[in-house]
Amino acid sequence: MYNNLINVVILAAGKGTRMCSDLPKVLHTLAGKPVIKYVVDIAKHINRNNIYIVYGFKGELLKSSFNDPSINWILQEEQLGTGHAIAQVLPYLNDNEDLLVLYGDIPLISKETIKRLCNIKPKNSIGLLTVVSDDPNGYGRIIRKNGIITEIIEHKDISSHQFTIREINTGIMIANVGKLKHWLRNINNNNAQKEYYLTDVIKIAYQDNCFIQSINPIDTDEIKGINNRLQLANLEKIYQNKQAEKLMLSGVTLLDPNRFNLRGTLICGIDVVIDIDVIFEENVVLGNRVKIGPGCIIKNSFIGDDCNIYPYSVINNSNLSIQCDVGPFSHFRNNVNLDKNACIGNFVEIKNVSLGSASKAKHLSYLGNSEIGSNVNIGAGTITCNYDGKNKLNTVIGNNVFIGACSQLIAPISIADNVTIAAGTTVLRDVKNANLVLNSKQQIHKKNWKRPSEK
Ligand code: UD1
Ligand code: MG
Repeated sequence: MYNNLINVVILAAGKGTRMCSDLPKVLHTLAGKPVIKYVVDIAKHINRNNIYIVYGFKGELLKSSFNDPSINWILQEEQLGTGHAIAQVLPYLNDNEDLLVLYGDIPLISKETIKRLCNIKPKNSIGLLTVVSDDPNGYGRIIRKNGIITEIIEHKDISSHQFTIREINTGIMIANVGKLKHWLRNINNNNAQKEYYLTDVIKIAYQDNCFIQSINPIDTDEIKGINNRLQLANLEKIYQNKQAEKLMLSGVTLLDPNRFNLRGTLICGIDVVIDIDVIFEENVVLGNRVKIGPGCIIKNSFIGDDCNIYPYSVINNSNLSIQCDVGPFSHFRNNVNLDKNACIGNFVEIKNVSLGSASKAKHLSYLGNSEIGSNVNIGAGTITCNYDGKNKLNTVIGNNVFIGACSQLIAPISIADNVTIAAGTTVLRDVKNANLVLNSKQQIHKKNWKRPSEK
């Protein structure tokens, strides 16, 4: 059985002029992730130890966006064409190995398609991924004689009778390293773009009695590249629609699948309902019967069964138990744990807090660095004063505590179980042996006072 080592090269040296950007093209994001990272993920399915990225424009920026010592970085100082790019990698590879060529700007290629391509045994052939396209403009055209591939001609080099050819080169191919070294020595840059085209090896290989075998991707969207921001936006739409479709077919209700955005992974229980314009980032898990209102942004969080997240709430890095109510307009800044039946209402900002079961902060509060027990009521406008200008300080609130509206809890502070804090109290020290705390302020009710008149 032929079972050669497959190296994977990802071409990413091009500047991507048409993006009109300071950022290398392949670092622009699709669903929140740099496009090249999709390609690297696919490469890892093939061989995680033999991945080569050919880089050039803003290379250091590109390299530093990966924290992955397994990637081999190959500098192509001048971008003289795809053939020249591949030639930079070949000296590092053995003649009896194979080379799979992927493009850093074609992110949606599937591992199934690549696996089928890799099943072609390139010892005596080249495996080429081609597509019959309704719009072949801009792509290299596949030339066949009696059905056999003999050549690829780049769009800028085709003659008028070849304009009607609809089979295009996706750029993705697999070939034997030794043969590639030999063929690439024979290409030149006598063409419209004055570049060394990798595609020119096809004709040379054919003349060398090599069989060029083509396969087609399962889905033509897989080979869509990104050359400008319009194409990037279109690909984002395609990608989001596919994710939405998958979720709906697995039982999730999306009130408008065209206004759904997943930038990471989303796992849902049964009968989840997601309203319009919700954004999910990183890894989110929604339990059974969770309802997410419109305009919410949920990042890296777990939301338990029967929770309701009302409109325009933002939840980051948090963990909600079952039957919690959140929002509208709540902001979970980071690291919030809600126990069963807890409730965080409108205009509450909350960070580094654990809130016990059935505890509530329903209106206009800031809660930070706090451990709050169960059955606690946090009145409207209550603030944990957790910052002395230099340090973050903790607040501990026991079970069954009632905090009256507009109170300030000056941290570090601890309030025992069952305590009541009267409305408008500034709590300055720990409450241990009392069940009511209030500020003694004299209040005057004047009878004959008048508002000042205009002078
Ligand atoms: C290439 C193919 C074309 C195919 C199309 C599919 C060639 C000559 N043409 O054309 O047949 O239909 O892709 O999208 O291969 N790159 C480098 N170094 C270079 C030049 C390019 O790393 O010197 C990288 C780019 O960053 C990009 C990829 O190679 O990731 C393709 O280059 P690009 O200039 O986009 O080639 P196309 O003209 O699209
Ligand atoms: Mg291109």
